[in-house]
Amino acid sequence: MKPIQVGLLGIGTVGGGVFTVLDRNQEEITRRAGRGIQIRTVADLDTKRAEELVKGRAKVVNDAKLVVNDPEIDVVVELIGGYGIAKELVLAAINNGKHVVTANKALLAVHGNEIFAAAQAKGVTVNFEAAVAGGIPIIKALREGLTANRIEWIAGIINGTTNFILSEMRDKGLDFDVVLKEAQRLGYAEADPTFDIEGVDAAHKATIMSAIAFGIPMQFDKAHVEGITKLSAVDIKYAEQLGYRIKLLGITKKTKDGIELRVHPTLIPAKRLIANVEGAMNAVQVMGDAVGTTLYYGKGAGSEPTASAVIADLVDVARLQTADPEHRVPHLAFQPGSMVNTSI
Ligand code: HSE
Repeated sequence: MKPIQVGLLGIGTVGGGVFTVLDRNQEEITRRAGRGIQIRTVADLDTKRAEELVKGRAKVVNDAKLVVNDPEIDVVVELIGGYGIAKELVLAAINNGKHVVTANKALLAVHGNEIFAAAQAKGVTVNFEAAVAGGIPIIKALREGLTANRIEWIAGIINGTTNFILSEMRDKGLDFDVVLKEAQRLGYAEADPTFDIEGVDAAHKATIMSAIAFGIPMQFDKAHVEGITKLSAVDIKYAEQLGYRIKLLGITKKTKDGIELRVHPTLIPAKRLIANVEGAMNAVQVMGDAVGTTLYYGKGAGSEPTASAVIADLVDVARLQTADPEHRVPHLAFQPGSMVNTSI
């Protein structure tokens, strides 16, 4: 069977990782997908940097429209980020009948309902494993592994930058600003770090998990969002003395009044596993009525961890293309009327 043809929009750390992992694990990936995965074209405004990363393995163009309009391309991987041009290109790809894989949590949390509706109408898939908790396969866990469960709650450390900052402030007694600069240098932070430190990035991710877990539309605008900028080293020290750690948690929970969706610093007893998640690592705890509490831990950002999730989605597309469309995993199985309750 002909390899699935991929167009990559935006190449940087993650895109480079996609090439590296596809090259290194080509044999396993092809066997598991049932066919090859070939990156045909890469679009990036910085074609010089793109050429350096691609090393002749794909065509490089500076106009993303050449990718979304190319009839030879089966699936478009969007790694541009943000809500602007990324939204336009994702919708154009869908309208051209292409499957989409995206790592763009902001786009899905804010415009996901429109994007999934467009994909449903066109009979294409939008996969987004890399959008939440990077390399941790939490989307697949929620949609597949835990599919027999009624999910009761999810609570996670889903922003590596803030977890790194809180860990460094506690361990080394460093100031917030110093550690933030270090997180940016290490490449954990968003282009605009306000999204990290004000809890917006975590709220994007919690919104996506909430939609999947509870069968509700994306409702980012209903989330309670509070970051870590008001915390000082003294708060962290006092918490420690009382036997607690402070973590920025993304929480979504089913209550009798609706669904809670919130991000805020939380005191967690120091003995709990999740309290001991340090540095830029992520961890997500999910409670299902049948399975009980489960915990997923790993790297929430970075080149190869995020590429691992992107490629898993590409393998899914390759597999599904050979399957009966009736049996594809739905994007979101909405339960109309289930809404996030903002009165918390
Ligand atoms: N800025 C994000 C984080 C990157 O710190 O977790 C991964 O989404």
